[in-house]
Parts: sequence; structure tokens; C-alpha cells
Amino acid sequence: MSNKVFVLNGPNLNMLGKREPGIYGDLSLDSIGQLCRETGKSLEFEVDFRQSNHEGTLVDWLHEANEGAFGVVLNAGAYTHTSVALHDAIRSIVTPVIEIHLSNVHAREEFRHKSMIASVSRGIICGFGPNSYKLAIQALADIRNS
Ligand code: DQA
Repeated sequence: MSNKVFVLNGPNLNMLGKREPGIYGDLSLDSIGQLCRETGKSLEFEVDFRQSNHEGTLVDWLHEANEGAFGVVLNAGAYTHTSVALHDAIRSIVTPVIEIHLSNVHAREEFRHKSMIASVSRGIICGFGPNSYKLAIQALADIRNS
């Protein structure tokens, strides 16, 4: 069984730390990557942490995850609310995908209440800031250990 976990980040998440810190906090994406690698290490996972602003790249990475990752933690950013392509990509793979968000999308604008990927994800974690990433990696460890 692979010990690899992909942590995939979608559009605008490269701006973390500078972007609306009142909503997303002041940690940079690099710092969140570090947090994920440390969390993964403590659970015997090797974390592959990536970000892209391009929908098709995220689709490619989901397909790649199916070839050798144990699971995926996906913060799809705004594509969460719009992307049939991400919905179909998640459907097309057997690797479990956990949808996450830093913010509580349900406490925000109505257009963020709809997720195109929730119905095909294993579970959803949102609203815990960078801890959403940690909790999702922990959830994958629980799936592995069950
Ligand atoms: C986000 C929430 C999305 O609605 C938004 O478009 C993002 C970030 C979050 O992590 O809270 O880019 O996914």
C-alpha cells in the first residue's frame, strides 16, 4: 500500500498570507505545506504538496494520484463551486479524496454553499484554518488503519 498522500491546492491559494488574512489567516502556503509534511510524517505518510491555478492541472494530478497515492486532500478553492471537470475526475479514480477548506464556506456567500465535488468526495472538512489540512491527513490515516 502506498504511503503517499497528495495535498492539492487550487486557484489563488498561492496568495495565502497576503490574501484576505481576516478570512484565510496569515500563514503562507509554504508554511501550510510544512505543517502537512510534519503531520504526514507523524502518521507515516509522505506528503506531496502542490498548488495550481489551472483546472486541467488539478485534473491531471487527480489521475496521477490514482496511480500511486493512498489518498488525496483537496482544497480546490473556487473550482469547488464550479468544476464539473473536478467532479468527473474524482469520480473516475478509486483513491479517496477529502474536500477541505480553510474557511467555513457555509457561513459565507451563498455561491460558496454549493460544492461540485462534495458528492464524490469521501468527506468534507471546512472552517478550521490550516488545521483543516491536518484533520484531513488524520482522516486518511484513520481510513488506512481501519
Ligand atoms: C477556500 C474557499 C473557497 O470558496 C475559495 O474560493 C477559496 C478558498 C477555502 O479554503 O476556504 O479560494 O477553498
